Formats: sequence, C-alpha cells, structure tokens
Amino acid sequence: MSRCESEAIAQARSWINNATATTALTGAGISAESGVPTFRGFAGLWKQFRPEDLATPEAFARHPELVWEWYDWRRSLIAKAQPNPGHRALTDLERRAQSFTLITQNVDRLHQRAGSQSVLELHGSIWQLRCTACHREWSDETVPLPHLPPTCRCGGLARPAVVWFGESLPREAWSRAERAASTCDVFLVIGTSALVYPAAGLASLAHRCGAKLIEINAEKTALSNAADLALTGPAGEILPALLRE
Ligand code: OAD
Repeated sequence: MSRCESEAIAQARSWINNATATTALTGAGISAESGVPTFRGFAGLWKQFRPEDLATPEAFARHPELVWEWYDWRRSLIAKAQPNPGHRALTDLERRAQSFTLITQNVDRLHQRAGSQSVLELHGSIWQLRCTACHREWSDETVPLPHLPPTCRCGGLARPAVVWFGESLPREAWSRAERAASTCDVFLVIGTSALVYPAAGLASLAHRCGAKLIEINAEKTALSNAADLALTGPAGEILPALLRE
C-alpha cells in the first residue's frame, strides 16, 4: 500500500471511529469476492443478455422461463457462495458503531449470513417468491428449482420477489434508507456502480446533508469525484483494513 493510500485509510478510519451515525450502501461488488458475478461489465453478461434485458416486468411477461433460468443460475451460484471479509467487516461495524444502518441493493442475503442483524434490502431477496395471481409471498431456497417457471399452490405463475427495472422499491425500507442517509455523519458506498436509481441517489443525499462520503470500489465510478475519499481496491481487503483498531 502506498503512503497516500495508507493516509486515506487512516483518515477514513478516523471519520468512522468518531461518527455518531454511520450508514453503508452496498452493491454487487461486495459479493464479487464470494464468487457472485456483478451485473455490469463482462462478468455481468449471461448468455449475451444484460440485466436490463432480463430484470424487467416486460421481459418476464414475454419470456418467464428465460428470466427464471437466469435467476435459477444466480441462485445456484449464491447458494455455493460464502460471505467474505468485506461482509464480515460490516457486521463488526454494526456491533461497534454508536448507530449503524446497512442498506443493500443485493438480493443474495450474504450480509445476513455473515451476521448482520439489520439489513434494509432495497431490491428484495432472490430466495423469496411471489405469486403473480394471488400475490402470496413465500421463501424457497431449493437449488435448482425442480420446474421452471415455478408456480404457486393456487396455480398462478411465481416470480422472484425482487425489484425489477421500472418497479417501486419497498416503501418502508426506502423511507428508512432515506432517513439513515440524511441523518448520518459518515456514508460508505461500497461495490456499486451507482448507476441504478433511486438507490444511487442515497449517496448524494447523504453528502448534501453533510455526511462524509467514502467510496470503496474496485474502480472509479460516477460518484468518485464527489466523494470525500474514494478508496480503490477490493472491498474484502479495504473494509477490514478500515476497521482495524
Ligand atoms: P454493478 O454490477 O452495476 O456494479 C458493481 C460494482 O462493483 C462496480 O462498480 C465494480 O467496479 C465494483 N466491484 C467489483 N468487484 C469489486 C470488489 N471486489 N470490491 C469492490 N468493488 C467491486 O452492481 P450494482 O451497482 O449493485 O438491480 O447494480 C445495481 C443494481 O443493478 C442491482 O441491484 C441490480 C442491477 O441490475 C436490479 O436487478 C433491479
């Protein structure tokens, strides 16, 4: 690590240690080191489809089997994945911080498996299914699913209970996320391309409300210039380094 990088880590550590309220927003990048592919970039393509081609109500209406095939593939990768040191560092922070809110765009539940007690899931969970006919919701962790597309006990077509492009975010989780972003003094934005709204807007909201904005990402993003500190590298290395006493 260069002198500049260790000074940036020391600065971020001091802001975190002195914060009254800390909020973190995570994206697919925090799970990349667990073997879960991110959405954008080469690794994000599945059979030449981009997430925007599959994660929409229109795609599901046209090709439910194809959309389910993609989710079944992601479910099988996530089922094999283990939380990594980045997820675990955030569970430590939850224990240590005076007040801490973890907001995630991820649907993989790896934060909960690492031990995080309270997680605001903005995009739902890949392990929850919802009936498109009777709207019943249930949990199903079977991998692979025996029949695609799966159906509800009422006979209706089931869909993943995740948020697709063009759909609203869960109201309660979103209003808690907005509150946590606007009232924290440190906002960590970790492993997200910050391209998908409204989640990406939480970082600018926090910054406008006076929080120090610390970005942790493998590469520069649209947010990097606005951040008070942009730490470039794998979250699984940077987060544990930040939280080291
Ligand atoms: P993206 O795939 O858009 O971005 C992943 C980010 O993680 C990129 O900026 C990478 O540089 C970064 N990254 C990769 N590996 C990393 C590592 N080891 N450590 C730190 N950073 C790393 O994923 P999201 O921003 O989460 O929504 O995407 C947002 C939403 O778009 C998703 O929730 C999903 C997707 O389509 C829906 O499906 C509605």
